[in-house]
Amino acid sequence: MAIRVLKQVVTSIATSDGAGVKLLRSLGKSQEIRLDPFLMLDEFSSMNADDYIAGFPDHPHRGFETVTYMLDGNMLHQDHLGNKGLLTSGAAQWMTAGRGIIHSEMPQQESGRLRGFQLWINLPAKEKMKPATYQDIPPEQIPTLNLANGGRVKVIAGTIQIDNHTVVAPIQGLSTEPLFLDVQLRAGERFALPIPESHNAFIYAYEGSVKIGEDSLATHTVGILCEGDMIEIYADKTDVAFLVLAARPLNEPIVQYGPFVMNTREEIEQAIADYRNGELVSKP
Ligand code: CO
Repeated sequence: MAIRVLKQVVTSIATSDGAGVKLLRSLGKSQEIRLDPFLMLDEFSSMNADDYIAGFPDHPHRGFETVTYMLDGNMLHQDHLGNKGLLTSGAAQWMTAGRGIIHSEMPQQESGRLRGFQLWINLPAKEKMKPATYQDIPPEQIPTLNLANGGRVKVIAGTIQIDNHTVVAPIQGLSTEPLFLDVQLRAGERFALPIPESHNAFIYAYEGSVKIGEDSLATHTVGILCEGDMIEIYADKTDVAFLVLAARPLNEPIVQYGPFVMNTREEIEQAIADYRNGELVSKP
């Protein structure tokens, strides 16, 4: 058994996206800062409607997956295929852009807290042009495991085994085999979990700072983990909350131009041309 210790810390920067939504970007804050197959991680969190109300009006994606996970608030998704879904507090949406999708993501509240994450996960070359699909997962369909010392784990993607409990998330069967967990621990509590040695893994602390071995990982910060087959995270003096992400790396070249992520420059030029000509999206 080899515990995965902290290898690299990625602090987040304050930026904005969409029509002016304020957010914190860690992975993806520059194109060199990724963890294959993870391309980007944004956290948005505000009590002030001015920070989020403009939302993300119609925009395209091609070649990867976007995962939205809401902690607080309501976000409406609509796409060019006529799909529409309301994400409420605790809901997740797993969207496979594939060949292309044009969609909007708009807050459905004029006050109160909007808080959540958007994660971009790359697709292998052979799946980049498959038809777009998406899954909305309401909060009650995300399984929660209560830990022995007061903490809890929500399992959004993948399968975990802790003690004698197996928890199977609604998101399964993807070729990068992603694991996506939202974990809360009480002060002094420990969380350990086997993760396949072949997978890349990181932690994102969003409440409090967590301990990974001897190291501390600050709030709003990504901790990329070393190789190994176990993770072990501690809450020290305060309660903490963090995401655990792991997936099989693709080891393929990446060429990104904004919302298009392909393997070659030619494919990016094709995506731009297709978007201009109205041919980005999958034919219904
Ligand atoms: Co989008």
